[in-house]
This record gives sequence, C-alpha cells and structure tokens, in this order.
Amino acid sequence: MDACLPVIASKYGGNFPYFRQPVKVGEFSLDDTRQFHHDSSRQKYMSWPSNKSLDSGESTGVYFDLNLLIDKAVKKDDSQLDERLDNLLKWIVRNQSKFQVKGYKGELNSLSTNFVCYRGLMTKLMVTPYENREPWIICASKWRDTIYLCAFDTEEKQAERQRETDRQRTMTSWGYKFEQFMMADAADSEANPHVPVLEGEEFCCVLRSRLGSHSLVYGAEVDGLDPHHTGDPSTMARFVELKTSREVDNQRQRNTLRRFKMLKWWAQSFLVGIERVVVGFRDDDGVVHRLHAYSTRQLPKDQDFWSPAVCMNFADALLSFVARHVTGDDPRAVWRLDFRPAERRVTCTPLGRSQRFRLLPDWYTEQMFPRELVT
Ligand code: A3P
Ligand code: MG
Repeated sequence: MDACLPVIASKYGGNFPYFRQPVKVGEFSLDDTRQFHHDSSRQKYMSWPSNKSLDSGESTGVYFDLNLLIDKAVKKDDSQLDERLDNLLKWIVRNQSKFQVKGYKGELNSLSTNFVCYRGLMTKLMVTPYENREPWIICASKWRDTIYLCAFDTEEKQAERQRETDRQRTMTSWGYKFEQFMMADAADSEANPHVPVLEGEEFCCVLRSRLGSHSLVYGAEVDGLDPHHTGDPSTMARFVELKTSREVDNQRQRNTLRRFKMLKWWAQSFLVGIERVVVGFRDDDGVVHRLHAYSTRQLPKDQDFWSPAVCMNFADALLSFVARHVTGDDPRAVWRLDFRPAERRVTCTPLGRSQRFRLLPDWYTEQMFPRELVT
C-alpha cells in the first residue's frame, strides 16, 4: 500500500504558516536555443513610461496588437525539451561556495537545504487543494540530506500537447508578445515589438526561503524588473510579473478570473516576493486595450474562493509528507508522487533506481562535494 496524503481544503485551514521572505542568491539565463549562460544577459526591464504610472492600478487606451510578427516568432519546442532540473543544477555546480555555512571552514558536503526545485513546482503544490481538473506527477530523489523535486508531464498533459490547436498555439505566443511590448533589453531603452519574439529565452533567479520547518532553494523564471523601483535589490520587490487575460464582460467571467487565474497569479508571485502583477486585458483577436496592475498582497482579499493559508499549509504538509517518505542517500533512487483530483489525495511510490524519472545526472553528482563523505 502506497503512503498517501489527503487533499481536502478544509483540513488545511488555520493560521498562515511561517514563510521567510525569499532572498535572491543568484541568477542565470537561457538563450533561444536553451543554452545555459551564467549571467543576467536575458534580464528584461519594464519600459512602461513612468508618467503613465501603473502604481495607481489602471491604464486604458492601450493598443498592443499581439499578432505583430507572430508568424516569425522563434518557438520553444516543449515536446523536444527534457530539461528536468538540469539548468538549476548547472547553477548549483557553479555556486557551491554560496552553500557554505558561515563560520564553517571544512569542505562542503551538503547544500544545507532541505529541498531544491523550481518555483513552478511550489505553485503547483500551493494550488492543489483547489485543483479539480489537472492531475500531476512529481518525482523526488534524496542525496546528501537534500531532496530534489521535479514535475513530469502526466499522460493527460502529453495527449493535450498532441491535440494542441493552432488557436492555442497562437494564444501562447500572445503571452510572450505581451512581455515584449512591456519590457526592454536595458534599463535605459524602450521596448521594441517590431522584431520577432525569441520564445525560448529565459531569465531565472535563484532564491532561498523557508516554509514552516523546510528550507528551500528554488529557481524562478521572472519576466523583468521595474528600473524605477527603489526596493532592496536582495529581495524580488523590483520584479514585475506579466500576464495576459481575456477582457471580462460579465459576472461569470469575473468569477472565473478570481477563482482560478488570480489564485495562480498570487501563488506564483507571492512565492518569489514579487509585489506587482501587471495584466494586459485583450480581446478575442489578441489586441490588448487595457493594463491593470494588481498588488500581490491585495489579490487574495478581492475574492472568497480560496484561502492563501490553505495553499501554504497544504504545501507545508506536502513537504513534510515527502520528507517522511523519501529517505536514504542514493542519487539514482526515485520516489513518485501522484495527485489525481478525483481521489483527493497524493500518493508516494518508491520506484527504486528509475532511469525514466531520474533527476540527478552523473555530471552533477561527480562535480558536487568531490570528496567521499566520511561517516
Ligand atoms: P500569460 O502569462 O499571459 O499566460 P509566465 O506568465 O509564467 O511568465 O509565462 C509567460 C507566457 O508563456 C504565458 O503568457 C503563456 O503565453 C506562455 N506559457 C507559459 N507557460 C505555459 C504553459 N504551461 N502552457 C501554455 N503557455 C504557457
Ligand atoms: Mg508572465
């Protein structure tokens, strides 16, 4: 019998758990061919004019045609990509000194962190209590006291990718095009939407935080920063999350927005300490006419469909569940966690040494902690 954790929102109410303000410890970039660069070359800067400040919330009379040069966009081919944790692991290999505990002079033999993963995985955990449709698969391996977590496509997701329509592909490209309308390549330049979008480019920050008793290191793709923001550079307050969404015409659409989209926007941004989510509201033809800046702090207060405390308490409980079941010190041993919405539970199954779901490649374990652990 597999171990299991119930997923019932009402079980995870109560106070908001301890969550430490995330601190940025590093960054990396991926170019349009998904090559790793240990730099901030793909960082973007919000170029929305300051005299049209979005701090007050709203900007109307915008006209961003997201179809501009859409046929020239350089796509990211998800079906060919199997990156797992590789880019984050490359960053860790190059930044081992950042994991040295202050005052300890000996050789590094652990990252001194309980979990390593991507932010997207943490978002997935946070919204699980309210997820009625999409199952997920997460795999875990434990090595040198750190558990590594990575999401894998479910069969349903693979089938969905196969069935993807031209319309869906276009809508994905609209999301990237909106980023290009809002962001420039340098703090003192302007956005240029008159060139094709390189959809595979990415800028990632690496963050350290703690949820309850679990210390975390996670990578997060971020859209860009506001060069006029005077926030502390060690936090993520200067960064802005960009989203597109269909303009809302009626109460039903407004409720859908609050119930599902705002939950995801909040979870994703809260986790990295981003304070503003700028949404481009578009029509059915892909033209944005209105921008709205939401305060991350305010998003949960504008609705009563979901509770931030439930999200975080569930994520905390899930990490504790993983920590109880994923044990040992074998970088090839994998555990598989499955969430199936109809069953309202997460199961944990040991897979042994699985090649299919392997997370920690030899190049990683060979370059980390070079000395054998003396026990
Ligand atoms: P929207 O954000 O406007 O939906 P992110 O918001 O996470 O920075 O992602 C930017 C854009 O990438 C999205 O725009 C969307 O177009 C595309 N995208 C990201 N993840 C996706 C996914 N899982 N499926 C489809 N499109 C995705
Ligand atoms: Mg975005």
